[in-house]
Amino acid sequence: MNHALELGYLRIEAADRGALAPFFTDVIGLAPGEPTETGDLTWTDDDAAQRILVGAGERNDLAALGFEAVDERAWTATLARLAAAGHPATEPDDENRARDRRVARLATVDAPWGSAVEVVLGLERGPAPAPTPMVAGGFLTAGQGFGHAVVATTAFDESVRFATEGLGMVQSDWLVTPIAPGLDLEVRFLHCNARHHTLALARAPFELPQRLHHVMFETNDRDDVGRAYDRAFAAGLPLPNGLGRHDNDHMFSFYVASPAGFQVEVGHGARLIVEPWTDDRRYDRISAWGHQPVVPAPDQSS
Ligand SMILES: [Fe+2]
Repeated sequence: MNHALELGYLRIEAADRGALAPFFTDVIGLAPGEPTETGDLTWTDDDAAQRILVGAGERNDLAALGFEAVDERAWTATLARLAAAGHPATEPDDENRARDRRVARLATVDAPWGSAVEVVLGLERGPAPAPTPMVAGGFLTAGQGFGHAVVATTAFDESVRFATEGLGMVQSDWLVTPIAPGLDLEVRFLHCNARHHTLALARAPFELPQRLHHVMFETNDRDDVGRAYDRAFAAGLPLPNGLGRHDNDHMFSFYVASPAGFQVEVGHGARLIVEPWTDDRRYDRISAWGHQPVVPAPDQSS
């Protein structure tokens, strides 16, 4: 298993940050952390200082994906691979950015899908996971990073090349399924450690309002998915996909729309990448069962 990178953090810029704070804390159940020096709000799902950063901005979308190298050798090798692929990453002149991200070293490059990719080393960690009382069993992150992100882009082929040739990610499998008459959805699922996919890229048929489709958190306890589902339902948030199980990574999960529009998947029980990986094949459906949109029952009171 080539294990050089893990998803370290994800940075979003949102116009209305006030609505995202209770969403991440009280619905998803993440632990709020200290704001960064530049004022980003932060949350974590484990012992890392921060996993989600929310800055103020009109972008209302993904601003940066932080890929954490497992050691200095992996960090150097990733930068060399990016440069060889025609996407050189640069270390900012001042150390403010690294301090803001609470990492020892940071190099940044613009990804073809329209956000920064920050290749970092030494994400600050505490002695124990931050308390997440709503998610009593905690989140699965050890050796796999904090979760996965799915990005839709019209620069699809270029983005897949950037992720594979530049970041060194490997395709786990792919999906082609009709979503409308004459319109197929194509998604490439990519891994860089045992997590089935750390990044998935969807071919957008046209520029979508948001590139970030969803970010996923995986719980250790299956019941914590159900409890998160109950909180999302009680909050009256849209549930684009109710409980279900994905065909390719076997994840039991649901999707809730955040107040900023992008979705969050809360899941449990995904299968792992094992070597040799012999299941890199095309899937023709997203889910083995479930994941239908949740619609409220008609009001029968009148
Ligand atoms: Fe997902």
